Amino acid sequence: MSAQKKQDSGRKPLPVELHMQQELDRLRQMQRYRSIPEIGERQGVYITIGGSRLLNLSSNDYLGIGADRELCASWMETLAGCGGLDGQVTMSSTSSRLLTGNHKVMDGLESVIAEAYGCEAALVFNSGYHANTGLLPALATRHDLILSDKLNHASIIDGLRISDAEFRRYQHGDCDHLEQLLCDAAGRYRQVFIVTESVFSMDGDLADLRRLVELKRKYDAMLIVDEAHGVGVFGEHGLGLGEELGVLEEIDILVGTFGKAMASVGAYAVMRGLYREYLVNTMRTLIFTTALPPMVLAWSRMTFLRQLEMRKERGHLRKLAAKLRTALREADFEVPGESQIVPVVLGEDRTAVAVAAALHEMGFYVLPVRPPTVPENSARLRFSLRADLDAGQIGDLVGAMKSLRA
Ligand SMILES: Cc1ncc(COP(=O)(O)O)c(C=O)c1O
Repeated sequence: MSAQKKQDSGRKPLPVELHMQQELDRLRQMQRYRSIPEIGERQGVYITIGGSRLLNLSSNDYLGIGADRELCASWMETLAGCGGLDGQVTMSSTSSRLLTGNHKVMDGLESVIAEAYGCEAALVFNSGYHANTGLLPALATRHDLILSDKLNHASIIDGLRISDAEFRRYQHGDCDHLEQLLCDAAGRYRQVFIVTESVFSMDGDLADLRRLVELKRKYDAMLIVDEAHGVGVFGEHGLGLGEELGVLEEIDILVGTFGKAMASVGAYAVMRGLYREYLVNTMRTLIFTTALPPMVLAWSRMTFLRQLEMRKERGHLRKLAAKLRTALREADFEVPGESQIVPVVLGEDRTAVAVAAALHEMGFYVLPVRPPTVPENSARLRFSLRADLDAGQIGDLVGAMKSLRA
């Protein structure tokens, strides 16, 4: 923080440990205190927490790949059987990709991804957080403007903050507001970037990618789309909402993550070759960090290829989500969105905490989501569905929610 900011606050700050204590007390009082849950055994769609076996409605394992024990066991055997894929599958990459950390497995993964998207190039990152905090600062300079959806994920917001570019946030999903900002910006910046999620993580609603594409064309902007919750679930080959809507070619940079539907860790972006070359030379979250272990990259390649074919699971997941959403709306709950993420907006923090606790008692694991993750007075439960659930389990959940309503 600058010396200027330190002076501005006026009052003498509390000693740091006292400040920490007071802040934690404040969070407890507001029902916003967070802790890391102790998690026991995981078995398919069930998870053991505090000795209770609960239906897991809080993971991002949208296709159930991570819970597929047979698949994991056979993968381990494959690895062992071929001596770790020609000795390339080591436990650590040992350094940044720009030093000695690049491996054939990484190059192979990027080729497979670029080919699937029909794109010139792909680049793999350590996580979606690394991707989003690194891309905008590398691409957008002080001569540029970034226009970002108001409900974009924290990692995108942090990317905006780090970048030297000016940024504005348009009202969530409001393309008219975005167009107004684009009009205002005309001729004033070297380049305007539009950045959005495709499937919004807290509301489960979808960006109007077709309209965003029209706007980016009309105003000559660059479009960056974070498909963290779209890949695996949307599109014939699970390449995301962009594939489903037929606009993949119009997205300048598409970010996908491995940590959700692909049951691994890391992220990728697909783009033109020139952008990749530029990012390799400028993107700090790529350059100044140890690359992902080849062991993990090999698994990501396998799950990426596997999910390309998982149409049946995608169809089943989306039917389950529609069933749950319809039933909850009929029971008068406020349920936004239209994806596998099914939020139930309850308003006050303490209501969301109490309803989540009651559901735990009834055998369902769902977490309350509170500000600052969501706007004030919109605390909610967030049911995150997966393809290995069945219709009976969704029916039981609806029954439990209705009993809490009564
Ligand atoms: C929309 C979105 N983008 C990026 C991320 C970060 O991805 P990762 O978990 O790989 O860091 C998340 C994670 O929750 C997300 O929801």
